[in-house]
Amino acid sequence: MKKILVTGANGQIGVELVVHLRKLYGTENVLATDLRRTPGAASEGGPFAALDVRDPKAFSETLRSFGADTVLHLAGILSARGEADPMFSWDVNVNGTCAALEAAREHGAAFFFPSSIAAFGPSTPSKNTPQDTLQRPSTVYGVAKVSMELLCDYYHKKFGMDTRGLRFPGLISYEALPGGGTTDYAVHIYYDAIKKGSYTSFIAQGTYMDMMYMPDALNAIVRLMEADPARLLHRNAFNISAMSFEPEQIAASIRKFMPGFTMDYDVDPLRQGIAESWPDSLDCSAAREEWGFAPEYDLDRMSEDMLARLKEKL
Ligand code: NAD
Ligand code: SER
Repeated sequence: MKKILVTGANGQIGVELVVHLRKLYGTENVLATDLRRTPGAASEGGPFAALDVRDPKAFSETLRSFGADTVLHLAGILSARGEADPMFSWDVNVNGTCAALEAAREHGAAFFFPSSIAAFGPSTPSKNTPQDTLQRPSTVYGVAKVSMELLCDYYHKKFGMDTRGLRFPGLISYEALPGGGTTDYAVHIYYDAIKKGSYTSFIAQGTYMDMMYMPDALNAIVRLMEADPARLLHRNAFNISAMSFEPEQIAASIRKFMPGFTMDYDVDPLRQGIAESWPDSLDCSAAREEWGFAPEYDLDRMSEDMLARLKEKL
């Protein structure tokens, strides 16, 4: 990667990824794009362009004028928000990704697509979920993710495009709040721990999901995009995860640093149903073998850092 265009740069991943990339590749070589400029480092700390990813002409022109060799396509609508307006979610997640892929193909750029644990469904083996397995998701978000995983494979095979991608687990971070997903509880719990000393979980006790701390996600994107292509047997949609836990375990981890922390439950049927349709824990061996995936944060190390950072911030 030398000149990088990031879509959805004002989101939970984008605000941190843009800053990370600008440190690695130079501020002027990373163009942040999103629907609109908002206060913050991604919009204000370097080049920024307003771009609706559903507009193919605008996408192509923005890519051409910046001269990017890589597109990191983060713009999207997350799982729970998607269920509130499925066709809007489909429009952004499918038509927006098609426009992004076409623009990248036209200008010879490499392409990164963030898939998700949502690409799996109730019939997928839920423990140690294999890299290659049944994918019959039950959310519109998941259906779009599987479709775009396959389309990225197709662009590689048909056009020789350098498409690569990851299946992210729930991402936990302190810079930007998550954008309406099912794993969001594992971010909100830290905010409420600092603000109130307690949290009411919308995910039920005993519900396991894969998770990862944001620094590991940023490193994974860069490591995959810089990997030797000859080693990539899968290319798109690598399973990655750093930990799998249920609400009681994250609460217990927080209690190690805040002994008085308490948690109760008010389960949201929509998000609980989505969570139950997703794997409990992913097999990440393909990512380890093909490009050296190696997350550094476990649950307790993440809790310690999240609580310290949020204490400062809040
Ligand atoms: P987010 O909701 O925080 O941010 C998405 C960004 O996309 C927002 O800034 C929004 O303004 C922008 N956007 C929405 N519609 C747009 C459009 N039409 N044109 C341009 N920009 C548009 O999402 P995120 O958490 O940063 O996730 C980024 C990507 O990673 C998404 O594709 C998401 O599905 C995927 N992902 C995220 C997680 C996670 O836990 N955060 C997990 C798995 C996959
Ligand atoms: N964090 C995301 C969500 O819950 C997973 O893709 O929607």
